[in-house]
Amino acid sequence: MTEPARRTVVSAENLSKTYGEGALRVEALKPTSFEARAGEVVAILGPSGSGKSTLLTILGLINAPTTGSLRIGEVQVIENALPRTSLERQRRQQIGFVFQRSNLIPFLTAEENVRLSLEIDGVNAYESRKRARALLENLGLDKRLLSLPAKLSGGEAQRVAIARALIHRPSVVLADEPTASLDSSRGRQVMELFRDAAHAQGAAVLVVTHDHRTLDLVDRILEMEDGRLTERARAPGAGRSPA
Ligand SMILES: Nc1ncnc2c1ncn2[C@@H]1O[C@H](COP(=O)(O)OP(=O)(O)OP(=O)(O)O)[C@@H](O)[C@H]1O
Ligand SMILES: [Mg+2]
Repeated sequence: MTEPARRTVVSAENLSKTYGEGALRVEALKPTSFEARAGEVVAILGPSGSGKSTLLTILGLINAPTTGSLRIGEVQVIENALPRTSLERQRRQQIGFVFQRSNLIPFLTAEENVRLSLEIDGVNAYESRKRARALLENLGLDKRLLSLPAKLSGGEAQRVAIARALIHRPSVVLADEPTASLDSSRGRQVMELFRDAAHAQGAAVLVVTHDHRTLDLVDRILEMEDGRLTERARAPGAGRSPA
């Protein structure tokens, strides 16, 4: 497989987020600058309340930054200005989200959950079915295409959620503790899927995790402490396997 071009797909400059005012003021994200490139998996570690989800919602264009600027794929955001609703489609196409719980739509099958956002964007039924099935089969879910979420195991549901995040071939995948509800071997599989997706699709994957056992699978580690983001020097042998 050829190495995808390692273009910069996340570029944040002096990004910060402050919630509230006066006595209620919380500097959840202190001014931070960083980049992420296509094809890399970046873990974000840090204690509860340190600002990890805040960072992810800003990168996901769900929350506006208080200061700074941000480019995600081809979408540019500046302080205090959330992208217009006209950018909603670009956001859906450029950014894939995976949450702690799979958040699948309960009355749609696995395949329909994955097809939905394609169809919102006007992809025809034949094409959306073809792409959803190919991706789900790739994730080992060929026997679960027609299952409703309630009939899936936690790991299966999370793989469907990953398929849903990847179906648009986004530039950036943001995952907030996607393995928290999984046992350690399932958690590892999920991280392997992210790594494979990052490499195969040329996406940058930013994943908040508490699971230190999967850090050998990531390319970089960012640490969040009290709103401050720092890059951890990479341990020798960690990250990308030579295979
Ligand atoms: N909407 C909000 N309004 C006010 N304060 C908020 C809001 N969201 C988060 N905070 C505060 O910002 C800080 C960072 O919260 P955040 O949810 O980003 O942390 P986290 O690292 O994701 O924590 P956890 O590991 O528990 O999920 C916390 O002090 C939190 O109380
Ligand atoms: Mg959080």
